[in-house]
Amino acid sequence: MSETATSNGTIAVAKPQLNQLNSDGHLRYGKMLIDGEWVEAADGKTFDAIYPGTGETIAKVASAGKEDVDRAVAAARRAFEGGDYKKMNGADRGKLLWKIADLMEQNIDELAELETLNNGKPLLESRRVDLPQSINCFRYFAGWAGKVSGQTIETDMNMRALAYTLREPVGVCGQIIPWNFPIQMATWKIAPALACGNTVVIKPAEQTSLSILRLGELMQEAGMPAGVVNIITGDGPTTGAALVAHPDVDKIAFTGSVEVGKLIMRTAADSLKKVTLELGGKSPNIIFADANIEFAAKVALSGIFFNQGQMCTAGSRILIEEAAREEFMEVLAGRAAKMVVGDPLDPKTRMGSLINEEQMNRVLGYIQKGTDEGANLLVGGERVGENGYFVTPTVFDRVKNEMTIAQEEIFGPVASVITFSDIEEAAAIANGTRFGLAAGVWTNDLKKAHLFAQKVKAGTVWVNTYNMTDNALPFGGYKDSGFGRELGQASLDAYTQIKTVLVDLN
Ligand code: NAI
Ligand code: MG
Repeated sequence: MSETATSNGTIAVAKPQLNQLNSDGHLRYGKMLIDGEWVEAADGKTFDAIYPGTGETIAKVASAGKEDVDRAVAAARRAFEGGDYKKMNGADRGKLLWKIADLMEQNIDELAELETLNNGKPLLESRRVDLPQSINCFRYFAGWAGKVSGQTIETDMNMRALAYTLREPVGVCGQIIPWNFPIQMATWKIAPALACGNTVVIKPAEQTSLSILRLGELMQEAGMPAGVVNIITGDGPTTGAALVAHPDVDKIAFTGSVEVGKLIMRTAADSLKKVTLELGGKSPNIIFADANIEFAAKVALSGIFFNQGQMCTAGSRILIEEAAREEFMEVLAGRAAKMVVGDPLDPKTRMGSLINEEQMNRVLGYIQKGTDEGANLLVGGERVGENGYFVTPTVFDRVKNEMTIAQEEIFGPVASVITFSDIEEAAAIANGTRFGLAAGVWTNDLKKAHLFAQKVKAGTVWVNTYNMTDNALPFGGYKDSGFGRELGQASLDAYTQIKTVLVDLN
């Protein structure tokens, strides 16, 4: 146990019990998956995987250089153009995806623990939310494999003709994912790509490679042919950039910061890669006075504090109608103050550690800025302990939409509460950032709810709920939150291209 006393009390974080250790005392995961083989980097370089709960190194992971990226892309190309994978029909691919889901389910406890160990999120969340949703994602797309087809189309030509379209896979897909939901982001990208018959080179975020490497083992156990999914581990500027620049990659799917999204688009232009981007957000959660205020406050709380607020859809701007402000704040602030920040591995913990020191300092910097710019710090705002990267749930009241804490993505446990007096003002504030990922609307007035859903510029609108995602529902952004849709039938567009065939029947 490492225990630290602070002004916020103590937080006792258990040393992780690491199973399956190497002789150096670290977790065995660390090699990359290229062409069906577990390999080190060609130049032997590694980087440390950290347990955010204590800041300790738990594994040494291969750091892929350009040579490794080249090998992974070449393997994905070979697998795409020929071999066992090419011989599989849609139903075979569906069976493979289903088998992966079954194996994940059989190993769910281990995967959940690995996720928490590498990310710092509460074990309860990994086990009850991240893993089940990831498993269901493979099952959802298993159902689509073999059911993605073209059309026959009537033409206007003065000839007898048969015209139809074929839906073909895009080819080699480069996928770059973040650290906030590591295994879930991996499944959102791998499952639709394979359902459509593509091959994959995926790069986990450097902070969180481990659960995805374990997933790689399970995919092999399920019978995935060599080269179909390659996992290259490493940082953004080296490994990620090499993948984006590679001329033989057909598509890049990216989830992460706006800054890197823009960089990826610029680089991808040189080889005209298809690009889909899921970037950040500053999502408004709007509560009208006629809603069930107590319930809205409870859900708003998890809407911002789930996963320590490190969510692209975080309901980080809470808009409350003036008439219900007092009642709402009592529940929100009261519950936020009582949320226990604790040992991520303790199954009772609801709030764990931020991903790393850099992110913690970013978040604390924003909290300082909020106070400097005149927002009212109502709850929290402090680091807890000296080991790990724990920050208390933080609520700012009397926030103005122009303030930095209402405009920039904080990606941490910080709620900014803004007051409004009518629907027009609410809509103006809701749309008053450069982002457009999601929004929540709370009201019992059916007309108001639907009108608002039309007014708000966001890829997802929740009515009388927040942050419910489902593998069947398209997910993506408006404005600077990116473009392209993941999940649902809509995601198949991003992983296929249309070929038109015209046959002269004269
Ligand atoms: P990031 O955008 O730098 O990292 C996300 C992924 O992109 C990682 O796999 C990283 O290795 C890769 N990457 C970084 N630079 C790259 C490059 N030049 N070429 C190719 N790949 C590259 O995000 P970071 O630095 O981890 O977090 C910074 C902020 O970004 C967060 O505070 C948050 O505001 C936002 N973010 C948003 C996410 C979302 O879900 N939309 C997820 C992660 C971060
Ligand atoms: Mg970055």
